[in-house]
Amino acid sequence: MRTVAIVVAAGSGVRMGLDMPKALMPVGGRPMVAWSLDALADTEEVDGIVLVGPPGWEEDTSHAIGALVDLLAVVPGGATRQRSVARGLAVVPDEVEVVLVHDAARPLVTPELAGAVVEAVEGVDGAIAAAPLADTLKRADDDLIVAATIDRAALWRAETPQAFHASVLRRAFELADDETLDLATDCASMVEALGGRVRLVPAIAPNLKVTTPPDIALAEYLLRASGVLVDE
Ligand code: CTP
Ligand code: MG
Repeated sequence: MRTVAIVVAAGSGVRMGLDMPKALMPVGGRPMVAWSLDALADTEEVDGIVLVGPPGWEEDTSHAIGALVDLLAVVPGGATRQRSVARGLAVVPDEVEVVLVHDAARPLVTPELAGAVVEAVEGVDGAIAAAPLADTLKRADDDLIVAATIDRAALWRAETPQAFHASVLRRAFELADDETLDLATDCASMVEALGGRVRLVPAIAPNLKVTTPPDIALAEYLLRASGVLVDE
C-alpha cells in the first residue's frame, strides 16, 4: 500500500452552531463526510482511507457511513485538528510512502484534485491544494484604519487535500510541541517549519470549506453544478 488518505472529521463545528458534529451534518441528503470519502475512494492514487471521527459519536458515524466505502480504520479524533491528524497518522501502516490529509469540511474535493496533489509530492516534501486570491488585501491597525495594501500576486489560500512523504509528516508530528498541535491549522505549516519544501497545486474547481450555515446551501449548489449531486 503506497498512499493512504486520512480524513479528519472530528471537529465539533462550533461556528455551525448545531448540536451535532459538522462532518455528520446532512449536505445534499448525506452526511457531509460521505462526499469526501466517496471522492477519495474513487481516487486511483489513493490505496486506503483512515477516518478520524468525532469522539463520542462512534455509533452515529458508523451508521452515517454504513458500507459506503471500505475504510482501513476509524479512530476517534483529538481536541484540535492537528491532534486528530496525529491519531490518524498513528494507524497508517508502516510501509505507506505517501499520506494525504483531507478535511471532511471540504466536500467538493474531486478524485482529480486529490490525485494531482498525491502526484505533486514527487521531488518535494509535500504538496497542497491552493487557490489564488480574488480580493484586494488590506492590512489594518487596531482602529480598523488601513495601514497597507498587500500585493496579492504571490499569496494563496491553502486548502486540503495535502500530501506528504510519510516519513516527513511523521517527523513533523514527532517534533511538534504542544503549542503547534494546539494552534497549527494545517499540516503543511508543520512541514514548512522544519524547512520542508511544499508545492502548491492550483485548485481550479471550487473547493469550498463548509464553516457557517450558509456554506451548506452553497456546497449543495456546487455539488449539483458539478454533477456529483443528482436529485432523484
Ligand atoms: N477537525 C478534527 N478534529 C478537531 C477539530 C477539527 O478532525 N478537534 C477537523 C474538522 O472535522 C474539519 C477540519 O478538521 O474537517 C477543519 O476544521 P474546521 O473546519 O475548523 O471544523 P470544526 O473544528 O469542526 O469547526 P469549528 O472550528 O467551527 O468548531
Ligand atoms: Mg475548527
